[in-house]
Amino acid sequence: MSNKRISLTRYLVEQQRVDGHIPSQLRLLLEVVARACKSISQAVNKGDLGGVLGAATTENVQGEVQKKLDIIANEVLIEANEWGGHLAAMASEEMDSIYVVPNRYPQGEYLLLFDPLDGSSNIDVNVSIGTIFSVLKKPEGHTGVSEQDFLQRGAQQVAAGYCVYGPQTTLVLTVGDGVAMFTLDREQGSFVLTQENVQIPPDTKEFAINMSNMRHWDAPVKRYVDECLAGTEGPRGKDFNMRWIASMVADVHRILTRGGIFMYPWDKREPNKPGKLRLMYEANPMGWLVEQAGGAATNGKERILDIQPAKLHERVSVILGSKNEVERVTAYHREA
Ligand code: AHG
Ligand code: MN
Ligand code: MN
Repeated sequence: MSNKRISLTRYLVEQQRVDGHIPSQLRLLLEVVARACKSISQAVNKGDLGGVLGAATTENVQGEVQKKLDIIANEVLIEANEWGGHLAAMASEEMDSIYVVPNRYPQGEYLLLFDPLDGSSNIDVNVSIGTIFSVLKKPEGHTGVSEQDFLQRGAQQVAAGYCVYGPQTTLVLTVGDGVAMFTLDREQGSFVLTQENVQIPPDTKEFAINMSNMRHWDAPVKRYVDECLAGTEGPRGKDFNMRWIASMVADVHRILTRGGIFMYPWDKREPNKPGKLRLMYEANPMGWLVEQAGGAATNGKERILDIQPAKLHERVSVILGSKNEVERVTAYHREA
């Protein structure tokens, strides 16, 4: 291990000095989110000993039965963030509408969106899960805050990241200047910089998609996967490997680490929905991280970050990862 350990705090302070594009309020926000993730990580680690496994009795706005940890993680993020004065409001997968900072606290200029616990089906089986977050600036020119203020394209994000709770707890962050990874040192209680300037290789031999949905896919997705499955004898002339963790955070973490393509495309099960994943707190932050690491993210037709959201919990078809592969799948959609 290098003897120069750079904590998240030091990294953010130095970034702020270098180019000034982390204003102090944003730095505070990122520190607070990191602290909340540390606390969620503790709860995840305790598992059954902390009584955090299993389902709650409630459903979220998406009609999904909430897990205890979905609710705990959501509360941890709200409690950590509401009093610091850096936020105007928050929005979450687990809340129907936005959470405006109570007026007993000062209001800041940022908006925070999160998927407090991603990969909920993996909680009880002890497989990697995570937290995803996206930061926007509240549009200027009016007082108060409404859902409308959140409906900004992903390209407007000022920070985005996730924390993966796996064999290690790792926080992955972008403020628009590349992607950095920080590993949680449990003894010190701090996140330590372990990788900077993360780069996704443009080509890959690994794809991630829930194959059980194959019969519902659209032709371009079917064509791409069929060609991967044909291996060395097929048009791609090489064998592919497949991974599906069912936690977007863990799948994206693998892709940022060694490349690959991840797809949760539109399918015929619910033709009126654009896809399963949510645009504003899953696809946008992940799409931006992937782009910042040299990869690409589209919905098959356009860049994820260019989509103008119409509502907070809007869903989207997602194709992201190694650039050449994402461009190939997107081209197949264009040709179809
Ligand atoms: P969440 O747990 O926040 O609802 O998200 C789960 C998502 C995503 O993390 C994962 O890639 C996908 O759902 C898994 O879906 P399948 O159950 O279809 O595999
Ligand atoms: Mn999720
Ligand atoms: Mn979730």
